[in-house]
Amino acid sequence: MNFQIEKLSLSAAIQGPLDALLVLWPSQVTPNALGHDPVTRWVATALEQGDFELKAGAVLSLYCQPGISQRHLVVVCTGDNQPAQIRSAVQSGWGALKSAKVKHLGLHVVGDASPQVLQSALSHLADATYAYTTTLSQPKARVLKQVRVSAEKVTEAHASSVRHAQALIAGVELAKEWANRPANHATPSHLAQAAKGVATGRAFKCEVLGPKEVAKLGMGAFMAVAQGAAEPLRFIVLRYSGASASQAPVVLVGKGITFDTGGISIKPAPEMDEMKYDMGGAASVLGVFKALSQLKPKINVVGLIPATENMPDGLAVKPGDVVTSMSGQTIEILNTDAEGRLVLCDALTYAERFKPQAVIDIATLTGACVIALGAVRSGLFSSHDALAHALEQAGEVSGDLCWRMPLDDDYAEGLKSRFADVANVAGRQAGSVTAAKFLQRFAKRFAWAHLDIAGTAWRSGAAKGATGRPVGLLLQYLTDLASKTDVADLSAAKKSKTAKPAPRTRKSLVKAQPTAVRKA
Ligand code: BES
Ligand code: MN
Ligand code: ZN
Repeated sequence: MNFQIEKLSLSAAIQGPLDALLVLWPSQVTPNALGHDPVTRWVATALEQGDFELKAGAVLSLYCQPGISQRHLVVVCTGDNQPAQIRSAVQSGWGALKSAKVKHLGLHVVGDASPQVLQSALSHLADATYAYTTTLSQPKARVLKQVRVSAEKVTEAHASSVRHAQALIAGVELAKEWANRPANHATPSHLAQAAKGVATGRAFKCEVLGPKEVAKLGMGAFMAVAQGAAEPLRFIVLRYSGASASQAPVVLVGKGITFDTGGISIKPAPEMDEMKYDMGGAASVLGVFKALSQLKPKINVVGLIPATENMPDGLAVKPGDVVTSMSGQTIEILNTDAEGRLVLCDALTYAERFKPQAVIDIATLTGACVIALGAVRSGLFSSHDALAHALEQAGEVSGDLCWRMPLDDDYAEGLKSRFADVANVAGRQAGSVTAAKFLQRFAKRFAWAHLDIAGTAWRSGAAKGATGRPVGLLLQYLTDLASKTDVADLSAAKKSKTAKPAPRTRKSLVKAQPTAVRKA
Protein backbone atom coordinates (compact mmCIF):
# COMPACT_ATOMS: atom_id res chain seq x y z
CA MET A 1 0.00 0.00 0.00
CA ASN A 2 1.18 3.42 -0.86
CA PHE A 3 0.28 6.74 0.73
CA GLN A 4 0.34 10.33 -0.47
CA ILE A 5 -0.78 13.50 1.22
CA GLU A 6 -2.05 16.77 -0.22
CA LYS A 7 -3.73 19.95 0.91
CA LEU A 8 -7.33 20.01 -0.34
CA SER A 9 -10.67 21.42 0.66
CA LEU A 10 -13.57 18.98 0.92
CA SER A 11 -15.04 20.49 -2.29
CA ALA A 12 -11.78 19.67 -4.08
CA ALA A 13 -11.46 16.21 -2.50
CA ILE A 14 -14.77 15.07 -4.02
CA GLN A 15 -13.34 15.74 -7.48
CA GLY A 16 -10.47 13.24 -7.19
CA PRO A 17 -10.05 10.33 -9.68
CA LEU A 18 -10.53 7.63 -7.05
CA ASP A 19 -12.82 4.65 -6.41
CA ALA A 20 -13.99 5.82 -3.03
CA LEU A 21 -13.65 8.64 -0.55
CA LEU A 22 -13.69 8.14 3.21
CA VAL A 23 -14.35 11.39 5.05
CA LEU A 24 -13.33 11.55 8.72
CA TRP A 25 -15.57 14.00 10.50
CA PRO A 26 -14.88 15.03 14.12
CA SER A 27 -17.79 15.83 16.49
CA GLN A 28 -16.85 19.43 17.06
CA VAL A 29 -17.24 20.40 13.38
CA THR A 30 -20.89 21.36 12.88
CA PRO A 31 -21.93 21.17 9.26
CA ASN A 32 -23.61 24.17 7.75
CA ALA A 33 -26.78 23.43 5.77
CA LEU A 34 -25.63 26.16 3.38
CA GLY A 35 -22.19 24.53 2.99
CA HIS A 36 -20.34 25.09 -0.27
CA ASP A 37 -19.98 21.39 -1.00
CA PRO A 38 -22.71 18.74 -1.27
CA VAL A 39 -21.17 16.51 1.43
CA THR A 40 -21.48 19.18 4.11
CA ARG A 41 -25.10 19.80 3.08
CA TRP A 42 -25.91 16.04 3.26
CA VAL A 43 -24.32 15.72 6.67
CA ALA A 44 -26.38 18.70 7.88
CA THR A 45 -29.61 17.20 6.51
CA ALA A 46 -28.86 13.72 7.90
CA LEU A 47 -28.23 15.24 11.34
CA GLU A 48 -31.47 17.19 11.16
CA GLN A 49 -33.38 14.05 10.18
CA GLY A 50 -31.74 12.00 12.93
CA ASP A 51 -30.16 9.64 10.35
CA PHE A 52 -26.61 10.45 11.43
CA GLU A 53 -25.07 11.54 14.71
CA LEU A 54 -21.81 13.18 15.64
CA LYS A 55 -20.69 10.18 17.70
CA ALA A 56 -17.49 8.21 17.04
CA GLY A 57 -18.15 5.38 14.59
CA ALA A 58 -21.44 6.76 13.14
CA VAL A 59 -21.53 6.25 9.37
CA LEU A 60 -23.27 8.04 6.48
CA SER A 61 -22.92 6.23 3.18
CA LEU A 62 -23.60 7.55 -0.34
CA TYR A 63 -23.38 5.97 -3.79
CA CYS A 64 -22.98 7.54 -7.26
CA GLN A 65 -24.06 11.03 -6.24
CA PRO A 66 -24.09 14.01 -8.60
CA GLY A 67 -21.15 16.35 -8.09
CA ILE A 68 -18.99 13.60 -6.61
CA SER A 69 -16.46 11.85 -8.79
CA GLN A 70 -15.96 8.83 -6.50
CA ARG A 71 -18.58 6.07 -6.77
CA HIS A 72 -18.56 5.47 -3.04
CA LEU A 73 -18.52 8.15 -0.42
CA VAL A 74 -18.57 7.35 3.29
CA VAL A 75 -18.63 9.95 6.04
CA VAL A 76 -17.67 8.64 9.46
CA CYS A 77 -17.56 10.51 12.73
CA THR A 78 -14.29 10.43 14.69
CA GLY A 79 -15.62 11.90 17.95
CA ASP A 80 -12.89 13.87 19.74
CA ASN A 81 -10.19 12.36 17.53
CA GLN A 82 -8.91 10.18 20.38
CA PRO A 83 -6.92 7.11 19.21
CA ALA A 84 -9.66 4.63 20.22
CA GLN A 85 -12.29 6.74 18.45
CA ILE A 86 -10.20 6.96 15.29
CA ARG A 87 -9.95 3.19 15.40
CA SER A 88 -13.69 2.61 15.67
CA ALA A 89 -14.36 5.26 13.00
CA VAL A 90 -11.93 3.72 10.51
CA GLN A 91 -13.23 0.22 11.25
CA SER A 92 -16.85 1.17 10.64
CA GLY A 93 -15.97 3.43 7.69
CA TRP A 94 -14.01 0.65 6.01
CA GLY A 95 -16.78 -1.80 6.94
CA ALA A 96 -19.11 0.20 4.70
CA LEU A 97 -16.60 0.02 1.81
CA LYS A 98 -15.27 -3.49 2.24
CA SER A 99 -17.33 -5.17 -0.45
CA ALA A 100 -16.65 -2.36 -2.96
CA LYS A 101 -13.24 -3.62 -4.19
CA VAL A 102 -11.65 -0.23 -3.62
CA LYS A 103 -8.21 0.05 -5.21
CA HIS A 104 -7.64 3.79 -4.96
CA LEU A 105 -9.03 5.39 -1.83
CA GLY A 106 -9.21 9.03 -0.81
CA LEU A 107 -9.06 9.71 2.94
CA HIS A 108 -10.18 13.23 3.73
CA VAL A 109 -9.78 14.60 7.22
CA VAL A 110 -12.19 17.39 8.14
CA GLY A 111 -11.15 20.10 10.60
CA ASP A 112 -7.84 20.83 12.25
CA ALA A 113 -6.54 17.28 12.61
CA SER A 114 -3.23 16.65 14.35
CA PRO A 115 -0.51 14.65 12.57
CA GLN A 116 -1.17 11.88 15.08
CA VAL A 117 -4.75 11.53 13.81
CA LEU A 118 -3.47 10.83 10.30
CA GLN A 119 -1.00 8.26 11.54
CA SER A 120 -3.61 6.51 13.60
CA ALA A 121 -6.20 6.53 10.79
CA LEU A 122 -3.73 5.07 8.30
CA SER A 123 -2.51 2.35 10.61
CA HIS A 124 -6.08 1.26 11.44
CA LEU A 125 -6.96 1.31 7.76
CA ALA A 126 -3.98 -0.95 7.07
CA ASP A 127 -5.07 -3.21 9.90
CA ALA A 128 -8.62 -3.45 8.52
CA THR A 129 -7.36 -4.35 5.03
CA TYR A 130 -4.61 -6.80 6.05
CA ALA A 131 -4.93 -10.45 5.11
CA TYR A 132 -2.50 -13.30 5.78
CA THR A 133 -1.77 -15.23 2.56
CA THR A 134 1.55 -17.10 2.82
CA THR A 135 0.31 -20.65 3.37
CA LEU A 136 -2.89 -20.44 1.31
CA SER A 137 -2.85 -22.12 -2.10
CA GLN A 138 -5.19 -19.50 -3.56
CA PRO A 139 -4.54 -16.33 -1.66
CA LYS A 140 -6.78 -13.30 -2.04
CA ALA A 141 -4.44 -10.39 -2.52
CA ARG A 142 -5.16 -7.06 -0.85
CA VAL A 143 -7.23 -4.96 -3.25
CA LEU A 144 -6.43 -1.57 -1.74
CA LYS A 145 -3.29 -0.23 -3.42
CA GLN A 146 -3.22 3.48 -2.89
CA VAL A 147 -4.47 5.91 -0.25
CA ARG A 148 -4.50 9.64 -0.98
CA VAL A 149 -4.80 11.56 2.25
CA SER A 150 -6.11 15.10 2.13
CA ALA A 151 -6.86 17.82 4.65
CA GLU A 152 -7.48 21.55 4.67
CA LYS A 153 -4.30 22.13 6.60
CA VAL A 154 -1.18 20.16 5.73
CA THR A 155 2.09 21.02 7.44
CA GLU A 156 5.50 19.37 7.33
CA ALA A 157 4.50 17.55 10.54
CA HIS A 158 1.50 16.03 8.74
CA ALA A 159 3.65 14.90 5.84
CA SER A 160 6.17 13.39 8.21
CA SER A 161 3.46 11.55 10.13
CA VAL A 162 2.31 9.96 6.86
CA ARG A 163 5.89 8.79 6.27
CA HIS A 164 5.97 7.51 9.84
CA ALA A 165 2.69 5.67 9.26
CA GLN A 166 4.05 4.05 6.11
CA ALA A 167 7.10 2.74 7.99
CA LEU A 168 5.01 1.72 10.99
CA ILE A 169 2.65 -0.26 8.78
CA ALA A 170 5.53 -2.02 7.04
CA GLY A 171 6.88 -2.96 10.47
CA VAL A 172 3.53 -4.05 11.86
CA GLU A 173 2.82 -6.16 8.79
CA LEU A 174 6.20 -7.88 8.97
CA ALA A 175 5.51 -8.67 12.62
CA LYS A 176 2.04 -10.01 11.76
CA GLU A 177 3.43 -12.08 8.91
CA TRP A 178 6.01 -13.88 11.08
CA ALA A 179 3.72 -14.30 14.06
CA ASN A 180 0.93 -15.68 11.86
CA ARG A 181 3.10 -18.21 10.06
CA PRO A 182 2.58 -21.73 11.36
CA ALA A 183 5.48 -23.06 13.42
CA ASN A 184 6.64 -25.38 10.62
CA HIS A 185 7.01 -22.30 8.40
CA ALA A 186 8.57 -20.16 11.13
CA THR A 187 11.37 -22.14 12.75
CA PRO A 188 14.28 -20.48 14.57
CA SER A 189 16.31 -20.78 11.34
CA HIS A 190 13.51 -19.14 9.35
CA LEU A 191 13.43 -16.26 11.84
CA ALA A 192 17.18 -15.86 11.45
CA GLN A 193 16.74 -15.65 7.67
CA ALA A 194 13.99 -13.06 8.14
CA ALA A 195 16.30 -11.01 10.39
CA LYS A 196 18.99 -11.09 7.70
CA GLY A 197 16.42 -9.95 5.17
CA VAL A 198 15.49 -6.96 7.30
CA ALA A 199 19.11 -5.95 8.00
CA THR A 200 20.08 -5.10 4.45
CA GLY A 201 20.94 -1.39 4.53
CA ARG A 202 24.38 0.02 5.34
CA ALA A 203 23.34 0.97 8.87
CA PHE A 204 22.41 -2.64 9.68
CA LYS A 205 24.24 -5.74 10.85
CA CYS A 206 22.88 -9.15 11.62
CA GLU A 207 24.74 -11.96 13.31
CA VAL A 208 23.23 -15.38 13.95
CA LEU A 209 24.63 -17.71 16.62
CA GLY A 210 23.91 -21.45 16.67
CA PRO A 211 24.07 -24.12 19.41
CA LYS A 212 27.89 -24.19 19.55
CA GLU A 213 28.33 -20.45 20.01
CA VAL A 214 25.50 -20.30 22.51
CA ALA A 215 27.09 -23.13 24.53
CA LYS A 216 30.39 -21.26 24.49
CA LEU A 217 28.68 -18.19 25.92
CA GLY A 218 27.36 -20.34 28.77
CA MET A 219 23.68 -19.69 28.05
CA GLY A 220 22.61 -22.72 30.11
CA ALA A 221 19.03 -21.54 30.63
CA PHE A 222 18.38 -20.91 26.91
CA MET A 223 20.03 -24.24 26.03
CA ALA A 224 17.88 -26.09 28.57
CA VAL A 225 14.72 -25.00 26.74
CA ALA A 226 16.17 -25.91 23.35
CA GLN A 227 17.49 -29.35 24.31
CA GLY A 228 14.14 -31.08 23.74
CA ALA A 229 13.74 -29.73 20.22
CA ALA A 230 14.97 -31.29 16.98
CA GLU A 231 15.06 -27.84 15.35
CA PRO A 232 18.37 -26.17 16.27
CA LEU A 233 18.20 -22.96 18.32
CA ARG A 234 19.26 -19.59 16.96
CA PHE A 235 20.41 -16.50 18.82
CA ILE A 236 19.85 -13.51 16.55
CA VAL A 237 21.74 -10.25 17.04
CA LEU A 238 20.50 -7.29 14.99
CA ARG A 239 22.18 -3.89 15.03
CA TYR A 240 21.02 -0.58 13.67
CA SER A 241 23.48 2.32 13.86
CA GLY A 242 21.71 5.58 13.08
CA ALA A 243 23.79 7.69 15.49
CA SER A 244 27.47 7.96 16.38
CA ALA A 245 29.04 4.91 17.96
CA SER A 246 29.48 6.85 21.21
CA GLN A 247 25.74 6.95 21.77
CA ALA A 248 24.56 4.08 23.99
CA PRO A 249 22.03 1.88 22.21
CA VAL A 250 18.56 0.81 23.22
CA VAL A 251 18.43 -2.99 23.30
CA LEU A 252 15.19 -4.77 22.40
CA VAL A 253 14.96 -8.42 23.46
CA GLY A 254 12.17 -10.46 21.84
CA LYS A 255 11.00 -13.85 23.13
CA GLY A 256 11.33 -16.18 20.15
CA ILE A 257 9.63 -19.45 21.15
CA THR A 258 8.52 -20.58 17.69
CA PHE A 259 6.24 -23.17 19.30
CA ASP A 260 5.48 -23.68 22.98
CA THR A 261 4.13 -27.15 23.78
CA GLY A 262 5.02 -26.54 27.43
CA GLY A 263 7.76 -29.18 27.21
CA ILE A 264 7.50 -32.05 29.73
CA SER A 265 5.06 -29.84 31.69
CA ILE A 266 2.95 -30.19 28.57
CA LYS A 267 0.02 -27.91 27.82
CA PRO A 268 -3.55 -29.20 27.32
CA ALA A 269 -4.62 -29.77 23.70
CA PRO A 270 -7.36 -27.13 23.26
CA GLU A 271 -6.00 -24.01 21.53
CA MET A 272 -2.44 -25.28 21.68
CA ASP A 273 -2.09 -24.18 18.05
CA GLU A 274 -2.05 -20.60 19.36
CA MET A 275 1.38 -21.28 20.81
CA LYS A 276 2.79 -20.64 17.32
CA TYR A 277 2.38 -16.98 18.40
CA ASP A 278 4.86 -17.46 21.22
CA MET A 279 7.46 -15.67 19.11
CA GLY A 280 5.32 -12.51 19.01
CA GLY A 281 8.02 -10.61 20.93
CA ALA A 282 10.64 -11.66 18.37
CA ALA A 283 8.29 -10.71 15.53
CA SER A 284 7.83 -7.25 17.04
CA VAL A 285 11.61 -6.77 17.15
CA LEU A 286 11.84 -7.71 13.45
CA GLY A 287 8.97 -5.30 12.77
CA VAL A 288 10.69 -2.44 14.57
CA PHE A 289 13.88 -3.04 12.56
CA LYS A 290 11.88 -3.04 9.34
CA ALA A 291 10.39 0.34 10.28
CA LEU A 292 13.84 1.68 11.28
CA SER A 293 15.13 0.77 7.83
CA GLN A 294 12.56 3.13 6.32
CA LEU A 295 12.67 5.95 8.87
CA LYS A 296 16.41 5.96 9.63
CA PRO A 297 16.14 7.85 12.94
CA LYS A 298 19.32 9.14 14.63
CA ILE A 299 19.60 6.48 17.28
CA ASN A 300 21.38 3.18 17.90
CA VAL A 301 19.29 0.06 18.45
CA VAL A 302 20.24 -3.56 19.12
CA GLY A 303 17.74 -6.38 18.69
CA LEU A 304 18.30 -9.73 20.44
CA ILE A 305 16.18 -12.78 19.69
CA PRO A 306 16.67 -16.07 21.52
CA ALA A 307 14.75 -18.44 19.23
CA THR A 308 13.86 -22.08 19.86
CA GLU A 309 10.94 -24.46 20.08
CA ASN A 310 9.85 -25.74 23.51
CA MET A 311 9.26 -29.49 22.98
CA PRO A 312 8.83 -32.61 25.11
CA ASP A 313 11.31 -35.31 24.15
CA GLY A 314 13.68 -37.93 25.53
CA LEU A 315 16.32 -35.26 25.79
CA ALA A 316 14.04 -32.53 27.09
CA VAL A 317 14.75 -30.71 30.33
CA LYS A 318 12.79 -32.18 33.27
CA PRO A 319 10.97 -30.51 36.16
CA GLY A 320 13.46 -30.21 39.01
CA ASP A 321 16.53 -29.95 36.75
CA VAL A 322 18.98 -27.25 37.78
CA VAL A 323 20.80 -25.29 35.09
CA THR A 324 23.35 -22.49 35.15
CA SER A 325 22.44 -19.30 33.34
CA MET A 326 24.96 -17.10 31.55
CA SER A 327 24.90 -14.76 34.56
CA GLY A 328 26.19 -17.58 36.77
CA GLN A 329 22.93 -17.82 38.71
CA THR A 330 21.60 -21.36 38.97
CA ILE A 331 17.92 -21.98 38.19
CA GLU A 332 15.69 -24.82 39.33
CA ILE A 333 13.30 -25.48 36.44
CA LEU A 334 10.18 -26.52 38.33
CA ASN A 335 7.90 -26.04 35.34
CA THR A 336 9.22 -26.46 31.80
CA ASP A 337 6.28 -24.38 30.53
CA ALA A 338 7.79 -21.29 32.15
CA GLU A 339 10.37 -21.33 29.33
CA GLY A 340 10.11 -17.71 28.16
CA ARG A 341 11.89 -16.34 31.21
CA LEU A 342 14.65 -18.96 30.71
CA VAL A 343 15.50 -17.86 27.18
CA LEU A 344 15.11 -14.18 28.08
CA CYS A 345 17.35 -14.24 31.14
CA ASP A 346 20.38 -15.27 29.10
CA ALA A 347 19.58 -12.71 26.41
CA LEU A 348 19.36 -10.03 29.14
CA THR A 349 22.82 -11.01 30.41
CA TYR A 350 24.12 -10.87 26.83
CA ALA A 351 22.66 -7.34 26.53
CA GLU A 352 25.16 -6.06 29.14
CA ARG A 353 27.95 -6.05 26.59
CA PHE A 354 26.31 -3.23 24.64
CA LYS A 355 26.42 -0.85 27.66
CA PRO A 356 22.86 0.09 26.78
CA GLN A 357 20.98 3.22 27.82
CA ALA A 358 17.89 1.01 28.15
CA VAL A 359 16.90 -2.62 27.64
CA ILE A 360 13.30 -3.53 26.84
CA ASP A 361 12.23 -7.13 26.61
CA ILE A 362 9.03 -8.03 24.81
CA ALA A 363 7.41 -11.40 25.48
CA THR A 364 4.19 -13.40 25.31
CA LEU A 365 5.22 -14.40 28.80
CA THR A 366 2.24 -15.32 30.98
CA GLY A 367 -1.37 -16.42 30.77
CA ALA A 368 -1.72 -14.49 34.03
CA CYS A 369 -1.15 -11.22 32.16
CA VAL A 370 -4.07 -12.09 29.85
CA ILE A 371 -6.25 -12.53 32.94
CA ALA A 372 -5.02 -9.27 34.47
CA LEU A 373 -5.19 -6.92 31.47
CA GLY A 374 -6.96 -8.77 28.66
CA ALA A 375 -6.34 -7.72 25.06
CA VAL A 376 -6.45 -3.96 25.67
CA ARG A 377 -3.15 -3.12 27.34
CA SER A 378 0.21 -4.89 27.46
CA GLY A 379 1.73 -5.33 30.92
CA LEU A 380 4.63 -2.95 31.59
CA PHE A 381 7.11 -3.76 34.33
CA SER A 382 10.05 -1.52 35.09
CA SER A 383 12.15 -0.50 38.04
CA HIS A 384 13.23 2.64 36.17
CA ASP A 385 10.64 5.40 36.40
CA ALA A 386 11.88 7.57 33.52
CA LEU A 387 11.92 4.60 31.15
CA ALA A 388 8.50 3.43 32.34
CA HIS A 389 7.00 6.89 31.83
CA ALA A 390 8.50 7.18 28.35
CA LEU A 391 6.99 3.82 27.38
CA GLU A 392 3.60 4.64 28.91
CA GLN A 393 3.63 7.93 27.01
CA ALA A 394 4.59 6.23 23.74
CA GLY A 395 1.69 3.82 24.30
CA GLU A 396 -0.84 6.63 24.74
CA VAL A 397 0.42 8.60 21.72
CA SER A 398 0.50 5.59 19.40
CA GLY A 399 -2.71 4.05 20.77
CA ASP A 400 -0.71 0.85 21.40
CA LEU A 401 -1.44 0.91 25.12
CA CYS A 402 0.34 -0.56 28.12
CA TRP A 403 -0.24 -0.47 31.87
CA ARG A 404 2.40 -0.35 34.57
CA MET A 405 2.41 -3.26 36.99
CA PRO A 406 4.16 -3.52 40.38
CA LEU A 407 7.56 -5.03 41.16
CA ASP A 408 7.65 -5.07 44.97
CA ASP A 409 10.32 -7.42 46.28
CA ASP A 410 7.73 -9.31 48.32
CA TYR A 411 6.44 -10.74 45.03
CA ALA A 412 9.75 -12.61 44.65
CA GLU A 413 9.24 -14.73 47.81
CA GLY A 414 7.76 -17.67 45.90
CA LEU A 415 10.77 -17.90 43.58
CA LYS A 416 13.00 -19.14 46.40
CA SER A 417 14.49 -22.59 45.85
CA ARG A 418 16.30 -25.03 48.13
CA PHE A 419 18.27 -26.47 45.22
CA ALA A 420 19.28 -23.44 43.17
CA ASP A 421 19.69 -19.66 43.43
CA VAL A 422 16.18 -19.20 42.09
CA ALA A 423 13.22 -21.26 40.86
CA ASN A 424 11.64 -20.51 37.50
CA VAL A 425 8.07 -20.39 38.88
CA ALA A 426 6.31 -19.18 42.00
CA GLY A 427 2.73 -19.95 43.08
CA ARG A 428 -0.46 -19.22 41.18
CA GLN A 429 -0.90 -15.70 42.51
CA ALA A 430 0.26 -12.66 40.50
CA GLY A 431 1.85 -14.85 37.82
CA SER A 432 2.78 -12.02 35.48
CA VAL A 433 4.51 -10.16 38.35
CA THR A 434 6.49 -13.15 39.60
CA ALA A 435 7.66 -13.78 36.01
CA ALA A 436 8.85 -10.17 35.85
CA LYS A 437 10.56 -10.54 39.25
CA PHE A 438 12.47 -13.51 37.83
CA LEU A 439 13.64 -11.44 34.85
CA GLN A 440 14.57 -8.49 37.05
CA ARG A 441 17.33 -10.58 38.67
CA PHE A 442 19.09 -10.60 35.30
CA ALA A 443 18.54 -6.92 34.51
CA LYS A 444 20.31 -5.16 37.36
CA ARG A 445 23.03 -3.54 35.30
CA PHE A 446 20.93 -1.29 33.09
CA ALA A 447 17.66 0.59 32.91
CA TRP A 448 15.21 -2.20 32.15
CA ALA A 449 11.58 -2.60 31.17
CA HIS A 450 9.58 -5.70 30.37
CA LEU A 451 6.45 -5.79 28.21
CA ASP A 452 4.21 -8.83 28.69
CA ILE A 453 2.26 -9.01 25.42
CA ALA A 454 0.53 -12.38 26.01
CA GLY A 455 -2.89 -10.71 25.74
CA THR A 456 -2.13 -8.15 23.03
CA ALA A 457 0.07 -9.89 20.43
CA TRP A 458 -2.77 -11.84 18.83
CA ARG A 459 -6.54 -12.14 18.73
CA SER A 460 -8.31 -15.46 19.29
CA GLY A 461 -11.67 -16.55 17.92
CA ALA A 462 -13.14 -15.81 14.50
CA ALA A 463 -10.76 -12.93 13.72
CA LYS A 464 -7.79 -15.01 14.87
CA GLY A 465 -4.47 -13.49 13.96
CA ALA A 466 -1.43 -11.50 15.00
CA THR A 467 -1.92 -7.82 15.83
CA GLY A 468 1.62 -6.59 15.19
CA ARG A 469 1.66 -5.10 18.69
CA PRO A 470 3.70 -3.57 20.28
CA VAL A 471 5.57 -2.36 17.18
CA GLY A 472 3.60 0.92 17.37
CA LEU A 473 4.55 1.57 20.99
CA LEU A 474 8.22 0.69 20.48
CA LEU A 475 8.61 2.72 17.31
CA GLN A 476 7.00 5.73 18.98
CA TYR A 477 9.35 5.36 21.95
CA LEU A 478 12.41 5.12 19.69
CA THR A 479 11.49 8.02 17.42
CA ASP A 480 10.64 10.20 20.45
CA LEU A 481 14.03 9.32 21.87
CA ALA A 482 15.76 10.15 18.60
CA SER A 483 14.09 13.54 18.45
CA LYS A 484 15.09 14.38 22.02
CA THR A 485 18.53 15.88 22.30
CA ASP A 486 18.88 15.08 25.96
CA VAL A 487 18.98 11.34 26.32
CA ALA A 488 21.48 11.49 29.13
CA ASP A 489 18.84 10.65 31.76
CA LEU A 490 18.81 6.99 31.04
CA SER A 491 22.53 6.62 30.53
CA ALA A 492 23.91 3.34 31.68
CA ALA A 493 26.95 5.05 33.20
CA LYS A 494 24.82 6.97 35.68
CA LYS A 495 22.73 3.92 36.59
CA SER A 496 25.59 1.50 37.00
CA LYS A 497 26.92 3.48 39.98
CA THR A 498 23.85 2.52 41.99
CA ALA A 499 23.10 -0.93 40.59
CA LYS A 500 24.28 -4.06 42.37
CA PRO A 501 26.57 -6.18 40.23
CA ALA A 502 25.08 -9.54 39.30
CA PRO A 503 27.16 -12.61 40.15
CA ARG A 504 29.57 -13.52 37.37
CA THR A 505 29.65 -16.77 35.46
CA ARG A 506 31.44 -19.47 37.36
CA LYS A 507 33.24 -21.66 34.87
CA SER A 508 33.06 -24.71 37.14
CA LEU A 509 29.27 -24.57 37.30
CA VAL A 510 28.91 -24.14 33.57
CA LYS A 511 31.08 -27.16 32.98
CA ALA A 512 29.45 -29.23 35.68
CA GLN A 513 26.02 -28.71 34.21
CA PRO A 514 24.86 -31.93 32.53
CA THR A 515 23.58 -31.14 29.07
CA ALA A 516 21.68 -33.34 26.69
CA VAL A 517 23.20 -33.07 23.25
CA ARG A 518 21.38 -32.62 19.98
CA LYS A 519 22.93 -32.21 16.56
CA ALA A 520 23.21 -28.65 15.21
N1 BES B 1 3.72 -18.75 26.22
C1 BES B 1 3.16 -18.97 27.50
C2 BES B 1 2.30 -17.81 27.97
C3 BES B 1 0.94 -17.67 27.35
C4 BES B 1 -0.09 -18.50 27.73
C5 BES B 1 0.69 -16.68 26.44
C6 BES B 1 -1.34 -18.35 27.18
C7 BES B 1 -0.56 -16.53 25.91
C8 BES B 1 -1.58 -17.36 26.27
C9 BES B 1 4.25 -19.17 28.53
O1 BES B 1 5.39 -19.78 28.08
C10 BES B 1 3.68 -20.03 29.59
O2 BES B 1 3.37 -21.16 29.31
N2 BES B 1 3.54 -19.50 30.79
C11 BES B 1 2.98 -20.21 31.88
C12 BES B 1 3.78 -19.91 33.10
C13 BES B 1 3.44 -20.78 34.27
C14 BES B 1 3.91 -22.20 34.01
C15 BES B 1 4.11 -20.24 35.50
C16 BES B 1 1.54 -19.77 32.05
O3 BES B 1 1.26 -18.58 31.87
O4 BES B 1 0.69 -20.62 32.30
MN1 MN C 1 5.27 -21.91 28.16
ZN1 ZN D 1 5.80 -19.57 26.13
